[in-house]
Amino acid sequence: MINDLAGKVAVVTGGASGIGLALVEAFVEAGARVVVADIEEPVLAREIARLDAAGADVLGVVCDVRELDHVEALAARTIENFGAVHVVCNNAGVAPVGPMIESNATEWRWVLDVNVLGVANCIMVFGPTLVAQGEGHIVNTASGAGLATTAFLGLYHASKHAVVGLSEALYKELADTGVGVSVLCPELVDTPIFESERNAPDGVDQNTEVLSPLREVIAAVGIPAAQVAADVLDAVRSDRFWILTHPETVAHARARIDDLEAGRNPTDAYAASRGSEPTEA
Ligand SMILES: NC(=O)c1ccc[n+]([C@@H]2O[C@H](COP(=O)([O-])OP(=O)(O)OC[C@H]3O[C@@H](n4cnc5c(N)ncnc54)[C@H](O)[C@@H]3O)[C@@H](O)[C@H]2O)c1
Repeated sequence: MINDLAGKVAVVTGGASGIGLALVEAFVEAGARVVVADIEEPVLAREIARLDAAGADVLGVVCDVRELDHVEALAARTIENFGAVHVVCNNAGVAPVGPMIESNATEWRWVLDVNVLGVANCIMVFGPTLVAQGEGHIVNTASGAGLATTAFLGLYHASKHAVVGLSEALYKELADTGVGVSVLCPELVDTPIFESERNAPDGVDQNTEVLSPLREVIAAVGIPAAQVAADVLDAVRSDRFWILTHPETVAHARARIDDLEAGRNPTDAYAASRGSEPTEA
């Protein structure tokens, strides 16, 4: 268990924006040295310059988590610069929206490659080092969308249910190794997640008619990323698996279990708890 983060080394993927950037700032505040990995080079450079100027001990690494060799290079740069790694936050993610029957194979590959294989690549690369040293913590960013479903985020749900499942299995796999595992399952957080198409490959065609209202909702009701980051650091320090940022998450998950138990067709838990307004990403 890593009670004291001072002097420890944390790696955050998708660290140049939103929840990832808030995690970077929280680790810096806790006295950790931080490797910030992101695919968006100019934004990464800007944030590293800002953090550097404020005296933070940070290293920026351009990294596409879909590519195993990028993640291997990330690990090598981490060890080269800081000599160790203790906390790995597998946070990079994208959120395509819209009906599955209107989606295409490029969109499916993109979301599964970033949200699922990106996490898997980091587990394969960093996991053995953490286990060998008998100390460390892995935080996988899933979502409330990994514990419940809606009608308009099918691709995203598929990816985030996978992250919840693999995280639970990883927790069991690493029991007694000294390496903790947590899964972060937020509902809406005020970040540019519904502008994910900025990092999309050609062939991803996001419908702005669907995205615009979601952007408005997330700006209106999303909680601050800094609040989520504080929850994550608390979970690392106390070796807590589930990181739930909103009270409704458990109710949404329970509705699914209730359906299973009753042999009932899927309930729309989100509509039941909040009208029909979307509450997750
Ligand atoms: N914002 C929310 O409401 C919310 C809710 C639940 C879960 N999440 C999850 O939180 C995580 C962070 O998202 P956010 O909300 O901070 O959005 P964000 O868009 O601000 O951050 C995502 C980051 O991931 C980076 N990224 C995208 N593709 C990448 C790739 N292939 N390789 C490396 N980096 C890549 C982006 O450049 C960006 O910096 C995601 O996994 C997202 O699914 C967000």
